[in-house]
Amino acid sequence: MLPVAVRKAVIPAAGLGTRFLPATKASPKEMLPLVDKPLIQYAVEEAVASGIKDIIIVTGRGKRAIEDHFDRSFELEENLKGNGKSKLLRDIRRISEVANFCYVRQSEARGLGHAVLCARHLIGDEPFAVLLSDEVIDGPVPALAQLIQVYDRGNGAVLGVKKVELAEVSHYGIIASKRLAGGRHRVLDLVEKPAPADAPSRLAVIGRYVLSPDIFPILERTAPGKNHEIQLTDALRELARQAPIYAQEIQGQRHDAGDKLGFLIATVDFALKNPVLGPPFARYLKQLR
Ligand code: UTP
Repeated sequence: MLPVAVRKAVIPAAGLGTRFLPATKASPKEMLPLVDKPLIQYAVEEAVASGIKDIIIVTGRGKRAIEDHFDRSFELEENLKGNGKSKLLRDIRRISEVANFCYVRQSEARGLGHAVLCARHLIGDEPFAVLLSDEVIDGPVPALAQLIQVYDRGNGAVLGVKKVELAEVSHYGIIASKRLAGGRHRVLDLVEKPAPADAPSRLAVIGRYVLSPDIFPILERTAPGKNHEIQLTDALRELARQAPIYAQEIQGQRHDAGDKLGFLIATVDFALKNPVLGPPFARYLKQLR
């Protein structure tokens, strides 16, 4: 039997963004612009390009700008229409039309696992994707589509992973795995933010997941772990004991744009690739120093 199609995606966006303070004190981290689009728009576009129809965004206090961004803006549209800016008008309208948007509030930032649990009633009994919008992945095939291809083989949850430097393993959930063909792995165990000496591998979970609703009862009984937060990694670890979980090494350039240095690097990369801004920006960079 073919697995049920993945139609829904959860984008948790209720975190405090402490790595990017003070910018994130009153503005959502997910709205930081990479050249001219907020981070969360890249995640939404990736989900839509991967076949997702329904986007559930988990928000919290101070995150209103996210809802406004994916809503119509009649005043702005009238202005663009009046000024004959039809291309910009189309682009702006499209933002609210690409998917069905739905919002759920996480009243307290109790961790990524808790944020995903907040979407339970909107997911129901079907598989779903999770995308963390501060991880921006730029590749020829959308990162989530790469995971859905693996999920469609019908074997269980799939996590997106990428090899990181040993010194960086303590920033990620790290998998212990058995390598299969084509960059696929069978996940044997997971560890949240291990010290380099304790890391079972250098394969880091990088903010893309395809999960089944089996994760919800586990999340419900998952106690707070690292940083006193309910960790999705801890629930996945439990799931791995009950059912097969796979990981897929994602093809594409990955940026941790929730980190100041990662954000600067992503900005330079995306700006250089921009057809209009790229050439003058490259000239500017060349004449520096
Ligand atoms: P991060 O750990 O990268 O985000 O969580 P953070 O907690 O906002 O940032 P720092 O580490 O303090 O700088 C990954 C994603 O999960 C969301 C965040 O908004 C981010 O997009 N998240 C995290 C929630 O929605 N709720 C939480 O309780 C924690």
